[in-house]
Amino acid sequence: MEWFNLSDNVNLLSIIGAATIIIATVLVAGKYIKQIKDDKSEGELYEDSQDGIGKYKNPVPMGWAVVFLLLIAWAVWYMLYGYPVNAYSQIGEYNEEVENYNKKFESKWADPSKGTLLAMGEGIYLVQCAPCHGITADGMDNKAADLTVWGKKEGIVDAIVNGSSGLDYPFGEMPAGMLDEDSAKAVAAYIVKEISKTSTSEDEAQVAMGEALFATCAACHGDDGKGMMGQTPDLSIYGKSEFVKEVLERGKNGDIGMMPAFKDGRLSDIQKEAVGTYILSL
Ligand code: HEC
Ligand code: HEC
Repeated sequence: MEWFNLSDNVNLLSIIGAATIIIATVLVAGKYIKQIKDDKSEGELYEDSQDGIGKYKNPVPMGWAVVFLLLIAWAVWYMLYGYPVNAYSQIGEYNEEVENYNKKFESKWADPSKGTLLAMGEGIYLVQCAPCHGITADGMDNKAADLTVWGKKEGIVDAIVNGSSGLDYPFGEMPAGMLDEDSAKAVAAYIVKEISKTSTSEDEAQVAMGEALFATCAACHGDDGKGMMGQTPDLSIYGKSEFVKEVLERGKNGDIGMMPAFKDGRLSDIQKEAVGTYILSL
């Protein structure tokens, strides 16, 4: 009988504990059984009775009340700080595993080549974005943004001519029709040449015209186009994956409803960069 090896302190302690519990149970039970048989109940009764059954005036014992209140406080502490919300639990373990996996993922793809980003981005796009934006990213008849023009000069022209809303910037909406289409094209040329610097080959005369017209935009986007510290979108990243990241963090309220924000780990930074790289390559 190996478990009965009394030279083992733990076994010995357990057996002493078990014996104590058994003896205490017998004694206490005996005491109460005797009391039930012998004692007459006594004490002050309430005046009213229910069907002849009276009630004693028993004030809540102080010690009991204090322990009761402390237990409630402890339960709150236990729930929020001890376990399960803050410590080991299946949810915690799951979160930990996800975090470790993400770390591995991030370090594996710490320095991806453009080709890797495109391939990864295409995969993410087809799963996460195509249901709304369409497999060819044309926005399925204006249901969601047409990503084949968004982020390019056409996207800027579209924003100027048709306005833009739903990204929830402090300045709210950008009104439609601020400039006619030709002026909008000139401004777009200026932005891609001088502000986002995503293009080097723009018509110089058009860029100069756009620069003059940019005063209309500077009122909200700032002279440097950087969005006046987050009040409006930063145009110096328009057409880059940073802007896509920004959109994915915010979500966008469009005509068919809300594009969800892809935050809180739904996509990691590298995945956002990948999908941004992919859609801007379209
Ligand atoms: C539930 C549908 C839905 C999903 C999924 C979705 N989008 Fe969108 N997306 C929209 C809608 C709606 C708009 C706004 C169109 C409009 O302005 O009318 C939008 C707009 C955009 C825009 C333009 C934002 C701007 O500033 O105008 C980008 C970029 C974009 N989505 C990228 C993505 C990417 C990348 C994914 C996948 C990670 C994705 N979307 C997934 C519905 C969706
Ligand atoms: C009244 C203030 C205001 C003015 C003036 C303004 N914008 Fe905007 N712009 C905004 C706001 C606010 C947004 C974000 C709108 C949203 O939620 O989609 C925005 C968004 C944009 C976007 C991003 C659109 C997208 O699809 O994400 C571009 C590009 C842009 N503006 C270009 C311009 C240009 C170019 C001009 C000058 C012709 C201009 N804006 C003038 C306030 C302004």
